[in-house]
Amino acid sequence: MARGKKPRAEATLSPIEAHAEYRKLADEIAAHDRRYHQDDAPIISDADYDALRRRLEALEVEFPELKGKADVSRQVGAKPLEKFGKVKHRVPMLSLANVFTDEEAGEFVERVRRFLDWSDSKAIAFTAEPKIDGLSCSLRYEQGELVVAATRGDGEEGENVTANVRTIKAIPHRLKGDVPTVLEVRGEIYMDKSEFAALNARQEAEGKPVFANPRNAAAGSLRQLDPNVTASRPLHFFAYAWGEIEGAIPAETQHGMVAAFKRMGFPTNPLMKRCESLDGMLAVYRGIEAQRASLPYDIDGVVYKVDDLALQRRLGFISRSPRWATAHKFPAEKATTTLLDIDIQVGRTGALTPVAKLEPVTVGGVVVSNATLHNEDEIARKDVRIGDTVIVQRAGDVIPQILGFVPEKRTANAKPYQFPTLCPICGSHAVREADPKTGELEAVRRCTGGLVCPAQAMERLRHFVSRDAFDIEGLGEKQIEAFYRDGIIARPQDIFTLEARDARSLKKLKDREGMGETSARNLFAAIAARRTIALNRFIFALGIRHVGETNAKILARHFRAVEKLRDATEEELTAIEGIGPVVAGSITDFFAEEHNREVVDALLKDVTPEAPEAVATDSPVAGKTIVFTGALERMSRDEAKAMAESLGAKVSGSVSKKTDLVVAGPGAGSKLADARKHNVEVIDEDEWFRRVGR
Ligand code: IVH
Repeated sequence: MARGKKPRAEATLSPIEAHAEYRKLADEIAAHDRRYHQDDAPIISDADYDALRRRLEALEVEFPELKGKADVSRQVGAKPLEKFGKVKHRVPMLSLANVFTDEEAGEFVERVRRFLDWSDSKAIAFTAEPKIDGLSCSLRYEQGELVVAATRGDGEEGENVTANVRTIKAIPHRLKGDVPTVLEVRGEIYMDKSEFAALNARQEAEGKPVFANPRNAAAGSLRQLDPNVTASRPLHFFAYAWGEIEGAIPAETQHGMVAAFKRMGFPTNPLMKRCESLDGMLAVYRGIEAQRASLPYDIDGVVYKVDDLALQRRLGFISRSPRWATAHKFPAEKATTTLLDIDIQVGRTGALTPVAKLEPVTVGGVVVSNATLHNEDEIARKDVRIGDTVIVQRAGDVIPQILGFVPEKRTANAKPYQFPTLCPICGSHAVREADPKTGELEAVRRCTGGLVCPAQAMERLRHFVSRDAFDIEGLGEKQIEAFYRDGIIARPQDIFTLEARDARSLKKLKDREGMGETSARNLFAAIAARRTIALNRFIFALGIRHVGETNAKILARHFRAVEKLRDATEEELTAIEGIGPVVAGSITDFFAEEHNREVVDALLKDVTPEAPEAVATDSPVAGKTIVFTGALERMSRDEAKAMAESLGAKVSGSVSKKTDLVVAGPGAGSKLADARKHNVEVIDEDEWFRRVGR
């Protein structure tokens, strides 16, 4: 519809005309949405935009068959996640490792000492501050001006929520004072407990869904398509970390950085303290724990961070979290309720998982109606029976658990639970395999139905197209389920033959309910776009037990080709840093199965996985094999290894003719002699730092 032209009355439109206008409108609205939300550059007024949407809705009322055909016809905010643009984090947004006891907190401090090779007499300062239960956000300032705000996302890529963040009063649009040219300030967006309660009361009064807790309310409020909605929600912010910095860093300590953020205009948490010892850290923990209930916002623990940034740099990261920080979580919260039933769910790997169906109960501010019971041994061990009054525990993000039952409340007719031996989905036998090494029965009972079991095939497909796997636009959970049900896609490889098969078929995809020519064309294009895909996504998509995103990345980096991974032995796999025997075993088991090899081979006919860029290929030691020997003075052995590996080198424990370089400190012995024998270059620690430019 051209703007300014008066829309024709629906009654005078034929269905064909209505369909044509509807499609055009939908495209037009989608384009405006993109300009508004992703580019931050709308070209029409809000009133004109609303007119377009009203026209679309009017057409839907008159021609109900149109309803839902265009994405934009959905309610604003119904599916916001797909509407935000993506932002790649220049410095990944990491998560924190957790500890739960004083003892574990002590072990954290010890680990830091050991890594740095620091004696007990040398103090290390830490900061201790509340762990806010909100959602983290990265705010990018260039020349002191807020330019982009992004959610954490998967840590590497988040959603662009700039327009919404600009409505949060606590977040400055312009920084005060002298600030680095580029500064990414990171912190937590949260909602106060009282404001959360008031918001829920309003939602309820208006017949809208209520939020489970302040964190969900904050996340839901931030991810609104309409920034006006975000503006109407009381969101706050605490700055506690940073990403990219270009220009002079404002401080050389964690507490100094937070103080600098405060001067720049950010709210910072007043409870943060600097501690010189473990006792000091634990005292802060106790103090914060005692205040927890009376704080206006939810917290779920205390975060400890090494204060000295030079030490933070030396400590670096392990997998997805920093070695220099940890979260000391508060103990879990508990409640009692009735166990109404036990549901058996069948997962992608065929595992039968018992899920407790509970009389809904509030645990730590969240309504819980399901809890995991892990497996059949666990049910037997706890002897929980349907009808029992059970104790439920919830800690942070983890799935609620059943701790046990209340004996006084057990009724005489409560019978021990009989775990099914047949798959509730396909009726195949469900068995417990014996561990090949120990001969012990595995805890999980698995359906033997493999690909004949719809639960497994469907779960496998769902996983295959999920966001961190193939992520095919237009082929989400719902669509893949429908295609599976109708026999159009039964195995992952069928996705890539869909278009060719459709061309030959008499029952065209475009004629399916809710499809249409454009959707079918878009789907084929989206599938075609995934014919080349990052190798780690490909590996992750296969759904090998124990191979999550992190392991998939490690494997992709190491093998650089699916064929190499497929043929790897357990020995080769366990030799890889970060891959243990359990993961190695499940990989070789996976590829030992004929049907899995078939899937992979078939996929490789249509899909080209791309190897990741090698780590730091431009470093002077990339690709070299290095041996560290003797006493190192400026870094610990672990640190040396981590540094060399991050620069793309391989670190070996012994000198051979394959060694490229030996870094020797005082007291180096036989390895030095070996180096001479093999004619390997030997340098000292200072020369090492010179070469790697640190
Ligand atoms: S520091 C590199 N400090 O906890 C470390 N995180 O489990 C960056 N969080 O994603 C995090 N309060 O959303 C840090 N005072 C605090 C925090 C905090 C809450 C959240 C944050 C992060 C998650 C990690």
